Amino acid sequence: MSGHGDAQPMTARKSAPLKGVAQVPGDKSISHRALILGAMAVGETRITGLLEGQDVLDTAKAMRAFGAEVTQHAPGEWSVHGVGVGGFREPDNVIDCGNSGTGVRLIMGCMATTAMTATFTGDASLRKRPMGRVTDPLSLFGARAYGRAGGRLPMTIVGAADPVPVRYVVPVPSAQVKSAVLLAGLNAPGQTVVIEREATRDHSERMLAGFGATLSVERTSEGNVITLTGQPELRPQAVAVPRDPSSAAFPVCAALIVEGSDILVPGVSQNPTRNGLFTTLVEMGADIVFENPREEGGEPVADLRVRFSGSLKGIEVPPERAPSMIDEYPILSVVAANATGTTVMRGVKELRVKESDRIDAMARGLEACGVRIEEDEDTLIVHGMGAGGVPGGATAATHLDHRIAMSFLICGMAAKAPVSVDDASPIVTSFPIFEGLMTRLGATLEHG
Ligand code: S3P
Repeated sequence: MSGHGDAQPMTARKSAPLKGVAQVPGDKSISHRALILGAMAVGETRITGLLEGQDVLDTAKAMRAFGAEVTQHAPGEWSVHGVGVGGFREPDNVIDCGNSGTGVRLIMGCMATTAMTATFTGDASLRKRPMGRVTDPLSLFGARAYGRAGGRLPMTIVGAADPVPVRYVVPVPSAQVKSAVLLAGLNAPGQTVVIEREATRDHSERMLAGFGATLSVERTSEGNVITLTGQPELRPQAVAVPRDPSSAAFPVCAALIVEGSDILVPGVSQNPTRNGLFTTLVEMGADIVFENPREEGGEPVADLRVRFSGSLKGIEVPPERAPSMIDEYPILSVVAANATGTTVMRGVKELRVKESDRIDAMARGLEACGVRIEEDEDTLIVHGMGAGGVPGGATAATHLDHRIAMSFLICGMAAKAPVSVDDASPIVTSFPIFEGLMTRLGATLEHG
């Protein structure tokens, strides 16, 4: 099954020690936001280090369809000539966001308070994902949504001609929902207030402030109360996109489980709303040294020196940590399979509505590799087999999900027998250089 042309099966074999420097690409969340806020500013925003993954390229195309001029000057170097808050023009065709939940949900937000109509679609994975979590709050601004049953794409949004500001308590921990409401609030008069009970990634808040919006974040017993003043003139910025910690997770975890490895992963975000995986790995006994802490592109970063860790221990991951590592549970479950003892991941039901049902995809694939798994709606439990103890010798179904594909390929680098994935093509959505980067470190990856 592939939404990106033909399925591309790939196989990983037991790897030689991984050595060298892993320069992972730019952050996906920040890349989407840089293009979108650039399009809503007046004048030219320059972006360096933009992730050129398919998800972000689809957002660039969408911003052009709404009237912004988006240009690539060199690899990673882009400019956006924005049209200002409220300045979008109505797109004359359907907006196809491909595989990207972040893309479609943020773009729905930023057009929902302008008097225009736009129709959105995506690939087979995105067309299964719930949009009601975004269209519910957008309807409070006065927008209307017409989609398929269950709030699925394709979906038409009729933007509010006279939007009103909104006070909204986000019912699920979701930075996409929070961000969609804040982006909609930009073109509503008065103050839009978003309350999140559990802190999720805060790139929208940081970047909105950087572009000159008036925004405050108050930490209260209710949670984070974010207040945005509508109808600002956003000022174009120079945005330096830091490297993606969710992509860094793959070489980091590979080095931890492939015997003899010793790698450096420079410039990895240590933003507390994103670094839950690294905290968890250290608790499991991972040998990770956080070198040279500094600030880059408005984000705290460090260089990660990672060495093979042969005596990792299973742990119970605190459920309240889930929002800061939500995309990292698939690769954590591969590390857990290479630890001794049991790793318990509770409070993770959001994984069921990602690019695939990630609890099910990891459970079925790891079981096929010989690992004992327990699961319920909100929980994934992995019974570890110790360093290098995973039998492997199976093919995992990736269900159009880049992180499932990369997780099982890393699994195969440490397993006794090779691990294949039925389709590695979705990896281009977030980590287009994955194969070359892992191969240069010493991994054995084969097509087929
Ligand atoms: C993202 C938020 C998260 C995450 C996704 C990127 C973002 O989704 O899983 O990969 O950039 O806002 P949710 O907001 O649905 O948790």
